[in-house]
Amino acid sequence: MSKSKQDILRLLKNDEYISGQSMADQLGISRTSVWKSIKALKAEGYQITSVPNKGHRLIAPPGYINQTALEVLVEHSEVFGHIEYLQTVDSTQNIAFKMLDTYDGAFIVVSEEQTKGRGRFNRNWASPKQRGLYISLVLRPNVPLTDIIRFNLFISLAISKSIDETFNLSSGIKWPNDIYINNKKVCGFLTEVVSEGNAVNAVVCGIGINIFNDAALSSLPRATSIEAEMAEGEGLDTDIFMKHLFRNLEHYYGLFLKHPFTAIRDEWKAKSIIFDKYLKISETGDSFMARALDIDEGGFLEVVDENGRLRRVISADIEL
Ligand code: BTN
Repeated sequence: MSKSKQDILRLLKNDEYISGQSMADQLGISRTSVWKSIKALKAEGYQITSVPNKGHRLIAPPGYINQTALEVLVEHSEVFGHIEYLQTVDSTQNIAFKMLDTYDGAFIVVSEEQTKGRGRFNRNWASPKQRGLYISLVLRPNVPLTDIIRFNLFISLAISKSIDETFNLSSGIKWPNDIYINNKKVCGFLTEVVSEGNAVNAVVCGIGINIFNDAALSSLPRATSIEAEMAEGEGLDTDIFMKHLFRNLEHYYGLFLKHPFTAIRDEWKAKSIIFDKYLKISETGDSFMARALDIDEGGFLEVVDENGRLRRVISADIEL
């Protein structure tokens, strides 16, 4: 993309109307050049509204999700009965929790931006506007609390397969909740549960996927985006991704409800990136190096540490 189009995109990203004159002044170019670049950006698929006496405003980059298309997906979904589509929220997880009493079935919350996106271990999840997918799934499986680790295995496979099928990439699963491409994290998910004793009332599974390149992401070591990993010139269409994601989520969630982990074990292991490597495993208050051996029926990771001791890991932070 030419330098002037990039500069104009940067100014348009402020999400407010900006006049052609103001852009020309800030960039030291003529109004005609501004106008030409905006025309070219529109031709590339950027949704830009231009209003006389107000200026121009970027609505969405090409390939960003379309609310109507998502609503149609939910209409045809066998699992989800409602979608809440929002422009900006603190966290889709928070919205999903607030809505638990409003909808008794399964539903999905999607936002174009999060101001307080959160990850596992209360880490921040960078969620710049229209740069990624920020989704919370609310499901109500009739399963014991101990099945949630198994749930994560099925969901990780659904996400990883959707990425590969849509974008022609080869993603891998980093147990328990991350999806990597070329040794960099492109997606993480966070499964939070409302339970009574050992019974699950609701699962709120928040999925964050970095789609477009962004300064906030580039500053994170070992993070990447779909756009950064895709071959140049290949179209990036998040609507198609959402179609694959819905289909795979419905399929693997259905399997999760009826089958043990063995039903997907081979498929899952073929996508796992943690085997045959030394890993740094951090559990609360404990950190050690170990080699991953296997995943057991319940979804626990079996490792052998440096002293040759076999250990079962439940939900740790893992560094490759
Ligand atoms: C992680 O890798 O630690 C999990 C990241 C989960 C991020 C998603 S984005 C949608 C949902 N809302 C949040 O605040 N977090 C999850």
